[in-house]
Amino acid sequence: MLRTVRATRYVVPLREGGSLPAIVEADDLGLYVVKFRGAGQGILALIAELLAGEIGRALSLRVPEIVFMEIDAALGRNEPDYEIRQLLKASTGTNLALDYLPGSTMFDPAARDKAAAEEASMLVWFDAFTQNIDRTPRNANLLVWHRKLYPIDHGAALFFHHDWPSREKKIASPFLEIEHHILLPWASAIAGAARIARERLTEPVLRGIVELVPNPWLEAIPGDVSAAERRTGYMDFFTRRLECSTIFEEEAIGAHSRLV
Ligand SMILES: Nc1ncnc2c1ncn2[C@@H]1O[C@H](COP(=O)(O)OP(=O)(O)OP(=O)(O)O)[C@@H](O)[C@H]1O
Ligand SMILES: [Mg+2]
Repeated sequence: MLRTVRATRYVVPLREGGSLPAIVEADDLGLYVVKFRGAGQGILALIAELLAGEIGRALSLRVPEIVFMEIDAALGRNEPDYEIRQLLKASTGTNLALDYLPGSTMFDPAARDKAAAEEASMLVWFDAFTQNIDRTPRNANLLVWHRKLYPIDHGAALFFHHDWPSREKKIASPFLEIEHHILLPWASAIAGAARIARERLTEPVLRGIVELVPNPWLEAIPGDVSAAERRTGYMDFFTRRLECSTIFEEEAIGAHSRLV
């Protein structure tokens, strides 16, 4: 179960971020980074953020806490910026938010940030499993906070859901994009991470995660695939990708060995 909070104050837009994320205060007095349902990337980005984020957490990666954030029409009414006002208006209802980590910085090898082999390997496995192309040197999407790593921004994972019939072809994909992963140089223990990951991602664990997606999000996706079919499709994708995981594990191990 995820917590649900209510937005009380739009604080500030984040400078980076193609999806116009912002820091918003909620009724529990916490600050959150909100992924708005009304942003250009649409509801699929929120679904990917939720599904991949919770899979990461099940693998013991430090994904910041994910909550549902309710936004009502009153929030944006007095917002002076036109674009933000429109975004808030288009986002009334349930949005997705992550615990805000104040003072965190982006992982940067040039600033001599490093990663432990086990953790780097698990992150590489996780991104290959969820087909997340967004963890590269150009855009690490990996925060460093109190010297520990916090993966963020999983909105581009599960790309198949933008073209639902492509799912079948993507299940056994080796995910060649892994060669650009920012943590690949440290990922010297992928086989070990894979063993742990396969143990953790049991069917009940995956089912619990897929069930977190709110029905109204699935129903809001354009097209004629029903919400129930989508949910079954995600579950089928995860379980079958796990069954043939050696395909992407071998690809990642090979990509790592080509680096060193
Ligand atoms: N939980 C968090 N705590 C602190 N800062 C965060 C958090 N989440 C995101 N940020 C900051 O906000 C920026 C944008 O967030 P994020 O990458 O999730 O959005 P995005 O729109 O998908 O971005 P992009 O398209 O640029 O990758 C991050 O690069 C990071 O600097
Ligand atoms: Mg990002």
